[in-house]
Amino acid sequence: MSETIDSLLHEERRFPPSSDFTATSVATPALYEDAGKDRLAFWADQARELLEWSTPFTETLDWNNPPFARWFADGRLNVAYNCLDRHVLAGNGDRVAIHWEGEPGDSRSITYAELTREVMKAANALEALGIRRGDRVAIYLPMIPEAVIAMLAVARLGAIHSVVFGGFSAESLRSRIEDADAKLVITADGGWRKGKVFPLKNAVDSAIASQTDGTSTVEHVLVVRRGENDVDWTEGRDLWWHDVVDSAPDEHEAEPFEAENPLFILYTSGTTGKPKGILHTSGGYLTQCAYTHKNVFDLHPETDVFWCTADVGWVTGHSYVVYGPLANGATQLIYEGTPDTPHPGRWWELIEKYGVTILYTAPTAIRAFMKTGREYPQKFDLSSLRVLGSVGEPINPEAWIWYRDIIGGGRTPVVDTWWQTETGAIMVSALPGITSAKPGSAQVPLPGISVDVLDESGNRVGNGNGGLLVVTEPWPSMLRGIWGDPERFIETYWEKFDFEGSPNRRMYLAGDGARLDSDGDVWILGRVDDVMNVSGHRLSTMEIESALVSHPIVAEAAVVGASDDTTGQAVVAFVILRAKQAEAQTAAEAEALLKAQVAEQIGAIARPRRIFIVTELPKTRSGKIMRRLLRDVAEGREVGDTTTLADTQVMNVITDKLR
Ligand code: PRX
Repeated sequence: MSETIDSLLHEERRFPPSSDFTATSVATPALYEDAGKDRLAFWADQARELLEWSTPFTETLDWNNPPFARWFADGRLNVAYNCLDRHVLAGNGDRVAIHWEGEPGDSRSITYAELTREVMKAANALEALGIRRGDRVAIYLPMIPEAVIAMLAVARLGAIHSVVFGGFSAESLRSRIEDADAKLVITADGGWRKGKVFPLKNAVDSAIASQTDGTSTVEHVLVVRRGENDVDWTEGRDLWWHDVVDSAPDEHEAEPFEAENPLFILYTSGTTGKPKGILHTSGGYLTQCAYTHKNVFDLHPETDVFWCTADVGWVTGHSYVVYGPLANGATQLIYEGTPDTPHPGRWWELIEKYGVTILYTAPTAIRAFMKTGREYPQKFDLSSLRVLGSVGEPINPEAWIWYRDIIGGGRTPVVDTWWQTETGAIMVSALPGITSAKPGSAQVPLPGISVDVLDESGNRVGNGNGGLLVVTEPWPSMLRGIWGDPERFIETYWEKFDFEGSPNRRMYLAGDGARLDSDGDVWILGRVDDVMNVSGHRLSTMEIESALVSHPIVAEAAVVGASDDTTGQAVVAFVILRAKQAEAQTAAEAEALLKAQVAEQIGAIARPRRIFIVTELPKTRSGKIMRRLLRDVAEGREVGDTTTLADTQVMNVITDKLR
């Protein structure tokens, strides 16, 4: 951590906006002024300007029962109507909503009028399957237009989607279906990745078959044909999308729901073994998605082509593939596959082909492209690009500069956007056209957002110091809870800074360390809890440890996130085998077996880069594993201070064995 801080402190480069950019920029300094004058009035204006309400709200925020916020609570709207019908009614039905490109090179361009009809049909089909307001629908799909259509169809009915990333295992899908009591699962036979079809339907079959009490709440499985791979079929339960959706009527009236009607649950890793179902609702969430998408990316919907490379299985895909861009009537690109298939210049080829003007991606991808070399992007015409965004993990200044120079031709603003599954939308970011950019810093809270950095006792650290990042005031797209677990919601985010005697002075603990520089700009330093960030994806050390110890050969396991040049962090595990097993296999065999175990229990993204088979783990006298020391070993450093260990020799035993 101290190395990171040192290198950040030496970053002196500044990139003020060009006068050309500022001349036409969407965001203006008036945003900061208005929000500064009256924060709630500012949000009310945004909600009225950016969305269409069937019943206008009269109350902006109800914070009488913190941390349970209600935004625009007496207003009513339909989220899907706001993303679709109203654009068609405003005369923009012929505008392309989605340019979709499949990995094998097939493509579809879908206008707002067509997308609206597709969603109406899907909504009718889901209604015929018994889906009603409040029901939970699990979506386990590749990056195909049906993923967006399915999410919006669920939203249109006032039901709740729970999108599960297609790279998660059957076991992860099982626990998510079960936690939310999903009634319907929407999946595909398979999708394309790295030149091959990966199956999905089979994982749904095993997830449903392995529900803990032997019964399942899932009544139907709706299957999109994409991979053309063979699938098993359960008559009566399984239905093809093309059978039920294609024949459904293409008129569907969108019923307005209250602003606090739940929109989705999205599971994310926390500090325990069990992922948390983060709950988001409608009006506030959509307001902040639309507001941030418009101002942070300088969106001109008539001319821009926006591309957010995230999968809809993550929050970035929810807010900046589905809800933000569609609420704003933007044209966007969606790409199914991996960046290097069939060649390492695929992304740049797509930018040239579709004239992408705004690109939003993760530092991991940028660092991987830096490794493959600038000759690939340089083969293509990237001159359409005018804004670049980064999200998911700290972007090191070197990657920031490369992104701006090589992808952005040295002209484009780069916005580093800090936010989380829990925050729902962007919270801290430069605004292009206004902010003078600092490579490596997420910079300033957006107009309407208040953040601070506190020390352990809740004192403000002030400029020039580091501490814990908090959000000091409620915001429209804030999570409304953890599905089925209000206590965990309070404990995790709101208890640490609950200032006694003033119940409405609760602050949201983000779980990130941050530093304020001498200008008061925010530099995110990474997680302060047992959450790792691998390629911009959140993984919990505890979750991987429990996947490891659930294998019969494992006695004990400890997992750390070791820093990695490309992926930010990488999963490294230390495992003690059960005595008999230790003799029965070589360390290499055990390592291979356990890597497969993690991939099977959680998903390939969680597969450890290295598993060290050891005979001891470093513990304090109270039995807590000292991960700091294991991180030293994993990163090949001299082992740090061991004086608080119960057995001070234990690190010698470990390092001798690994030498
Ligand atoms: O540690 C922060 C990091 O990603 C975490 C949130 O992960 P997730 O909920 O999966 O959402 C990722 C996409 C919004 C944060 O707690 N993070 C996210 N954006 C940044 C970041 N770290 C540094 N800089 C960022 N711009």
